[in-house]
Amino acid sequence: MRVSYKPGFFKFEKNFDFNDFFKMINDYSLPSYNTWQENSQDVFNSVFTIDDAHKVNYFKEIFNILNQKFNPNNSRSNLHIFVSFKNGTKGKLHSDEEDVYIFGLHGHTCYMVENQEYMITPGDFICIKKNTPHQAIGLTPRIIASFGIYS
Ligand SMILES: [Fe+2]
Repeated sequence: MRVSYKPGFFKFEKNFDFNDFFKMINDYSLPSYNTWQENSQDVFNSVFTIDDAHKVNYFKEIFNILNQKFNPNNSRSNLHIFVSFKNGTKGKLHSDEEDVYIFGLHGHTCYMVENQEYMITPGDFICIKKNTPHQAIGLTPRIIASFGIYS
């Protein structure tokens, strides 16, 4: 099975919204990248990645749960945040060298995996196995978290 999709897998006491996002950016010094930008004259039509989100208080517990569930060998792991601000902003079609465990935090994101659509809203979870081509399309402004294990 190259994809495992579990809508409503996580229930958050308080959803992580854009206020929380900008507070995180201000309060923590996390590496961040403009991962994919379609047009240099339209900078907000970009996908931004923030690394090391597991250092943020809001994500500490869920990071521990993900490690307990999916990382029995205690390999190096990281929690990344993907964010985009405009309807229709999409990432590049790509595959990852490790299994990725993705869950929605805010907004609606469509993941296309092998011509199949998976809708990710807050709490929805999808695991995409390594070397499986996928593309994320933000249907609304959106925030996604991605847990990666590096062996
Ligand atoms: Fe990916």
